[in-house]
Amino acid sequence: MEKLDQRIQLVASREFNDLVDQWRRAQSDLPSRSEAIRRLVHYGLQYDQEFPMRMITAIIRPHKYDELRDALVALGIEGITKTQVAGFGRQRGQTEIYRGREYEVTDVPKLRIDVAVPSGMVDKALAEIEKVTHTGKIGDGKIFVTPLERVIRIRTGEQNENALD
Ligand SMILES: Nc1ncnc2c1ncn2[C@@H]1O[C@H](COP(=O)(O)OP(=O)(O)OP(=O)(O)O)[C@@H](O)[C@H]1O
Ligand SMILES: [Mg+2]
Repeated sequence: MEKLDQRIQLVASREFNDLVDQWRRAQSDLPSRSEAIRRLVHYGLQYDQEFPMRMITAIIRPHKYDELRDALVALGIEGITKTQVAGFGRQRGQTEIYRGREYEVTDVPKLRIDVAVPSGMVDKALAEIEKVTHTGKIGDGKIFVTPLERVIRIRTGEQNENALD
């Protein structure tokens, strides 16, 4: 049995406490809020160990690529995969091209950028991608973030964060 003899003080908002309590009630075996917070922290640490990196996939306007590449390189990102893709969002490609009949779905050319980053870099990278690719008009694109379990640099066999720098 783990010895619980270290006291920490935690100041939280009512919203935070409500969320914790809501989750705790759904667990059936958590008698206290402290117990719930300990378990949630444990889950968080476990998740980070399991997925130490993230794959950031951004669908962007093609003309934004050069600026985005330079911005990401300046952040210390050492590799990018770029793919020419086409697709549609909630306007079904229509408002972006002005031709084509109503209800017709049209694919619009976009660039897909895949960047694998250590999880500690995700927020910085996302902020940069948003800053560079945002115009405010429909069709600016989307960013998808997925947990990344493993990366291997083929030449050296290096793994994970070592394979990213
Ligand atoms: N749910 C989705 N799943 C996968 N790809 C998507 C999805 N939504 C958009 N995309 C891709 O992103 C591209 C750009 O989407 P777009 O920016 O038009 O999204 P949106 O949701 O319609 O937002 P907006 O209203 O700003 O246009 C699409 O051409 C498509 O390739
Ligand atoms: Mg759209």
